[in-house]
Amino acid sequence: MASCAFRRSIASQLSKVLDLPPENLIKSISAVPVSKKRHVADFQLSVASVTEDSSSESLAQDLHLQAQKLAERLKCDAVVSEISTGPGTVNFTINRELLAKTVLQQVLKDGSEYGVKSELFSTVPRQKAVIEFSSPNIAKKFHIGHLRSTIIGNFIANLKAALGHEVIRMNYLGDWGMQFGLLGVGFQCFGNKEKLKSSPLQHLFEVYVQINKEADDENVKKLAKDFFRKLEEHDEQTLSLWKQFRDFSIEEYIRIYKRLGVHFDEYSGESFYQEKSQEVLKMLEDKGLLQKTVKGTGVVDLSEKKDLSLFSTVMRSDGTSLYITRDLAAAIDRMNKHSCDTMIYVTDKTQSNHFQHLFQILKLMGYDWAESNQRDRRPYRDSRESWPCSTNNPSDVNLFSQDFRGLLSSDYQFSWDRALQSRGDTGVFLQYTHARLHSLEQIHGNKQPTDVNVACLQEPDAISVLQHLLRYDEVLYQSSQDLQPKHIVSYLLTLSRLAAVAHKTLPVKGSAPEVAQARCCLFQAARSVLANGMKLLGITPVTQM
Ligand code: ARG
Repeated sequence: MASCAFRRSIASQLSKVLDLPPENLIKSISAVPVSKKRHVADFQLSVASVTEDSSSESLAQDLHLQAQKLAERLKCDAVVSEISTGPGTVNFTINRELLAKTVLQQVLKDGSEYGVKSELFSTVPRQKAVIEFSSPNIAKKFHIGHLRSTIIGNFIANLKAALGHEVIRMNYLGDWGMQFGLLGVGFQCFGNKEKLKSSPLQHLFEVYVQINKEADDENVKKLAKDFFRKLEEHDEQTLSLWKQFRDFSIEEYIRIYKRLGVHFDEYSGESFYQEKSQEVLKMLEDKGLLQKTVKGTGVVDLSEKKDLSLFSTVMRSDGTSLYITRDLAAAIDRMNKHSCDTMIYVTDKTQSNHFQHLFQILKLMGYDWAESNQRDRRPYRDSRESWPCSTNNPSDVNLFSQDFRGLLSSDYQFSWDRALQSRGDTGVFLQYTHARLHSLEQIHGNKQPTDVNVACLQEPDAISVLQHLLRYDEVLYQSSQDLQPKHIVSYLLTLSRLAAVAHKTLPVKGSAPEVAQARCCLFQAARSVLANGMKLLGITPVTQM
């Protein structure tokens, strides 16, 4: 990573002056974001992060003075050509030709590994992560909440895998529960085997809606109950119909996921945990955690005072399991089966209570890993707009970028208008930039950075692109810390903007061969990093629009 070499060099000089080990300084040195005010330095050291007394006493003024004092003791060298100070920072400008040469060489040499090999990640232990995402319910709508979970979960999985972690992508289908009693009856009344095969999701949804209208009818109620009981008793015929619902639905899901560029390693689901739920209930009972109510249901007391002012129902009066019971069994099973370091659930915010209860019960049961697990949960707002699965959606890419912009947990409102707009800060802009840069490469051919005269890349617009490329590892690091895609999204939008400006002011066509070659190389590097970032977000870069 280009920035590593520079950071190391700056750290080594600082280490002598400050008498601190260089390793401790590296994380305090960061690349300066490119701004409209040009001529900014390349790196900065925040003085507050290296002074011992950064308490309330050391005011801004004081920090500024310290920065100046520190800067006076530092010298320019073969790497650093200029040292200046800002409010509380010491700023370093790298030798211009060295900057261009190092960045271009590194980007083009590392290819898809650019940034992920940075030493910023060297202290991060490699882990195994089970990431559950998407998790739609059979016979119910695949709504925008599921789409967002799919996109965000896929991003988290891509990022973790790129950083060298072992990742298991899991889909936990809503494929069990009382609604399957109703669906079964519905299918017996209005079902059509042909339609079930050709468009299972739509057909099962229609059947479910239709039978739901009669759900209050006593006869229908009884039939639904019977159907679900037979299912739980594993009656062969009933089970075989249910299995068709599940299998055909998964086939169609896979087709949809494929279009989105998403895949799963495991299709799990609530149906896997009927027996194991009974074991969980037994465990809860053995540990004295299961309490019977007068209604005959089983609950776990979650209140502080143990007065049942807060509880979670884990067993129906007839002894059968609920959504949370199956999730308890599933969590324990995931941990046993995969012995992972991290378990991540990507789901909508409407479920945050459910997950709070889930982790609380696991802790009561003595599963200490549930504690750290809770921190890794990423709930976000679900605006409950249904996703028309069947449209020939022209703007999958826009959806991605729109979804990624805001904070995941903000009360963000989804809008189809915004998703479908093709101008401005959208995924289309990323694609368009990628396609243009790609065609530039097609026309002028690939350039080797070793053959390039970097003295030709000294215009401010060229420097801005280089400076921005320098920051990629820090942006990856930020996203890896909070699992938020927004850092990468805004980085790529800026990269696209800077590349577009540079493309305008620094034409390749018609320039002297040496200049043209150097510029080509710069654009090649920009395209490479753009493509890397897009792939992490789950967007497949196109070469033509
Ligand atoms: N199927 C659920 C729904 O659509 C989401 C599942 C979330 N994951 C879990 N382990 N409960 O509402």
